Amino acid sequence: MADPPSVKPETLAAQALHEVDPSSGAIVPPIQPSTTYARDEDYRPVSPGHQYSRDENPTYETAEALLARLEGGVACLLFASGQAGASAVLQALEPGDHVVAPQVMYWGLRKKIVAFCRRWGLELDLFHPGEPGALERVLRPGQTKLVWIETPCNPTWEVIDIAAAAQAAHGAGARLVVDSTVATPVLTRPLALGADLAFHSATKYLNGHGDVVAGALVSAKDDDFWQRIKDHRVFGGAVLGPFEAWLLLRGLRTLYLRVHRASDSALRIARHFEAHPKLAAVLYPGLESHPEHAIAKAQMSGGFGGMLSFRFAGGAGAALQAAKACRVFTRATSLGGVESLVEHRATVEGPDSPVPEDLLRLSVGIEHVDDLIADLERALGSVGSPGDL
Ligand SMILES: Cc1ncc(COP(=O)(O)O)c(C=O)c1O
Repeated sequence: MADPPSVKPETLAAQALHEVDPSSGAIVPPIQPSTTYARDEDYRPVSPGHQYSRDENPTYETAEALLARLEGGVACLLFASGQAGASAVLQALEPGDHVVAPQVMYWGLRKKIVAFCRRWGLELDLFHPGEPGALERVLRPGQTKLVWIETPCNPTWEVIDIAAAAQAAHGAGARLVVDSTVATPVLTRPLALGADLAFHSATKYLNGHGDVVAGALVSAKDDDFWQRIKDHRVFGGAVLGPFEAWLLLRGLRTLYLRVHRASDSALRIARHFEAHPKLAAVLYPGLESHPEHAIAKAQMSGGFGGMLSFRFAGGAGAALQAAKACRVFTRATSLGGVESLVEHRATVEGPDSPVPEDLLRLSVGIEHVDDLIADLERALGSVGSPGDL
């Protein structure tokens, strides 16, 4: 077959790298469920690189190759969940290493980082992502080995300057990992901005259909640290099932359409409700009023993502009342799917959550934006008058 022309990421994704199954000519790859792979009479693997499915599985390979291309990295590894991918990064560190992470980030992962560092003898500093210079102040040159950031930061959507964070991390001798779950490679490419690893909960936008739990890491370099991460997947065993990998590749084909649609709708919703009298604030990096809007504009292209939060002037009661009144948004955790979700994070995270109780997080899907705005209008209209429901 002729060499493929150089094409844009949208085309790579839609065509899943234009691969054709050599055994059948199929343009959709088969699912390979086999756990083990044969060897020939001379004990060489019949298919080089394949011996056991905890090491490698042909069904991962196209999804990994596609994600590596979209993120501009040299290699990608899929994991059984986002948390499993993040754990592999933490397990690649040595006791005594110093780790830096934001105070505002996905709650489950912050919890994991705090617990892991305490139990495994790593030192940890958390910094506030909205405070200029806060990251630089906690770095310990020579001892800091990992700077983990998430941008935009869940669920208040502060934006961290990736290029500045990379420069600061590298100046201290540390690696920078960017949780780019919310931005996706459609809107931000962390490796091109200097990050060492791009991380995703592939459960969210990458798959996009609420039916797969998966994680992905893409590395800028194939170095020792990456080999340790790879070893952790093989020997730690947090591998994705082949069917889930296949579904993920199917989801990736529409990634650009879904993320652009969700971003356009989220911006419309944010603008529509920004001055609403029942809201104390609309948190969205695409609004000019957002404190880091200039950074978001510089490092995100094509939109500001499908995630935003409302803070209710009437406090927790008003937020919960609005969630109760939603008819199009579904009350559920998670984000990044085709269907819009509304979530009261403080309830989900529990009593030690730092998330304000007056906050509702919205994950905007791909439905008609007029229906989403009408639903939120109805929900806000119900606030203060629960008897009207
Ligand atoms: C930003 C972010 N990072 C990481 C994770 C963890 O990923 P998973 O649920 O796939 O383990 C999540 C899950 O909600 C998330 O939202």
